[in-house]
Amino acid sequence: MEKVRFRQYAALLSQYLKPQWIRVTLLAIFMFSGIGLALLNPQILRYFIDTAKAGGSMRSLIIAGVVFFGIGALGQVVMLVSSYLGQDVGWRATNQMRGDLAHHCLQLDMSFHHEHTPGEMVERVDGDTAALSNFFSEFIVQVVGSLLLLGGILIVITLEDWRIGVALAGFVAVSIYVYNLTRNIAVPVYTAEREGYSRLFSFFEERLTGIEDLRTNGGINYTMDRFYDVNRDVYGRAVKAHVMGEVLQTISGVLFALGLVLTMGMGIYLFQIGAFTIGTVYLVIHYTAMLRGPLIMISRQINELQRATAGLKRIEELYRITPRIADGTEALPTSDALGIEFNHVTFGYTEDESVLKDVSFQLQPGKSLGLLGRTGSGKTTITRLLFRFYEINSGQIRVGGKQIERIQLDDLRNRIGMVTQDVQLFNATVRENLTLFDAEISDNRILSVIEELGLSEWIQSLPNGLDTVLEGTGMSAGEAQLLAFARVFLKDPKIVILDEPSSRLDPATEQRIDSAVQRLLKGRTSIIIAHRLGTVQQVDEIMVLADGEIQEHGERNRLVQDPDSVFSQLLRTGLEEMTQ
Ligand SMILES: Nc1ncnc2c1ncn2[C@@H]1O[C@H](COP(=O)(O)OP(=O)(O)OP(=O)(O)O)[C@@H](O)[C@H]1O
Ligand SMILES: [Mg+2]
Repeated sequence: MEKVRFRQYAALLSQYLKPQWIRVTLLAIFMFSGIGLALLNPQILRYFIDTAKAGGSMRSLIIAGVVFFGIGALGQVVMLVSSYLGQDVGWRATNQMRGDLAHHCLQLDMSFHHEHTPGEMVERVDGDTAALSNFFSEFIVQVVGSLLLLGGILIVITLEDWRIGVALAGFVAVSIYVYNLTRNIAVPVYTAEREGYSRLFSFFEERLTGIEDLRTNGGINYTMDRFYDVNRDVYGRAVKAHVMGEVLQTISGVLFALGLVLTMGMGIYLFQIGAFTIGTVYLVIHYTAMLRGPLIMISRQINELQRATAGLKRIEELYRITPRIADGTEALPTSDALGIEFNHVTFGYTEDESVLKDVSFQLQPGKSLGLLGRTGSGKTTITRLLFRFYEINSGQIRVGGKQIERIQLDDLRNRIGMVTQDVQLFNATVRENLTLFDAEISDNRILSVIEELGLSEWIQSLPNGLDTVLEGTGMSAGEAQLLAFARVFLKDPKIVILDEPSSRLDPATEQRIDSAVQRLLKGRTSIIIAHRLGTVQQVDEIMVLADGEIQEHGERNRLVQDPDSVFSQLLRTGLEEMTQ
């Protein structure tokens, strides 16, 4: 392992363990005591054996037995407490780290989130932290604990006889070396097993998500076929991994038998020359047997450390990605509706392709703009730029008279309300879905907005009213849309963006949505992306986009009267002509 990694681990430790130094200190105290007690007990056994052999009194033997039991029991309790403390400290640190990482990711640009799938993000925020959590919750406790115990045993044995001490130290070194050798052979086998499982799970996930499509298209048999394939693959890998585990066990067993033989031989020799009592021979054998636990632990954790290091590396990579969009400092004017201005804006999601080309338009405060254009012409993109989800390539965008880069992002995004093509509902109560978890908004306001949108009946039909938990799926597209409108009403923004769904709603819902739209637009600046001409009957201006460029822009009335305008043609042929 490189030196840099060591420093990174040290930094990580101090960052996440310092705040809980009291718990860490307690943990250290308990660990030291536990190890001390574990080292003490064999001494009692020696006393017992030697006393018994010398024909000592029954009383001293019984006392020795009771003390032995007492120390043993106390040692177990102490170990229990220290393992609890270790897990506690470890998981607190891990959760903190996971939280920090999630927070960091949420602040990254939209372009970052488009490039990374949700599955990948789960793996990075949770999977990588899980690898590191082991570092916190087990590595420290077990490796430090094991090292201390190992050192303690070697010291105590050396105090009895330095020759056995030296021999066992050599044995420990050889064992660690052999363990690592075998582990290195085993790790790829274990990794292969984990990969097999992860393929199985992602197979499940994909097929379950697409279950409706699969059923309707008769893909079940094919899916089962593929499933058997993946399953068979997992079977092979799992069996291999299990056998490998057994082999490692055996190797460790043989190694240990050798260690014990070494101690026994030396102990008996020392007994014969009169340097050891029989109790001392037993003592060193007992200590030698105690070496096995920490040895296995250390070699296992060395491998875990490699996994943690990979996790740490990827977490650091993630932290190095910073939002490219720098926050502004200026606040927007609070009172009036806000105007919008695009000046020669050119933008592309990727460097080589421009989605918007030299787009310029102005929308006065309080006016509404109907935005039309073929699918893929860049309508939604314009609205994303207003939220400053992306940085434009050239040109200028102004909101409320201020250059968009100067405006505080929070302020900007709070002032714009949007109802999009797909409404994201959370697995939370209706109230939380409407207020987006803002507890400041009173129930009275929520209910009056619901009333305004004609949703009262629907709310009353729910088992727990506003406290009903939405499962996300059990709603029609129309209901979800109406909830999205209610959200925007509660936010009370100065600018409203409506990205209309192209899916058809039933006439009654459509009417309710239309009237919701009219109410929402009053006194606000608005952009309405329409897939139905009905929606843009009431707007002040019309803009037609074609392939990222403005094809036509003007007052609706003027365009209607001009028979040559694109909009007039659309009114004659119907919007479907264009959007299909
Ligand atoms: N996140 C993205 N990353 C890369 N390209 C994108 C992204 N979003 C949209 N595009 C591309 O940008 C172009 C414009 O997309 P946009 O969503 O603005 O179209 P639209 O006019 O809203 O279409 P629709 O009527 O289908 O909603 C399309 O060619 C699309 O493929
Ligand atoms: Mg769109």
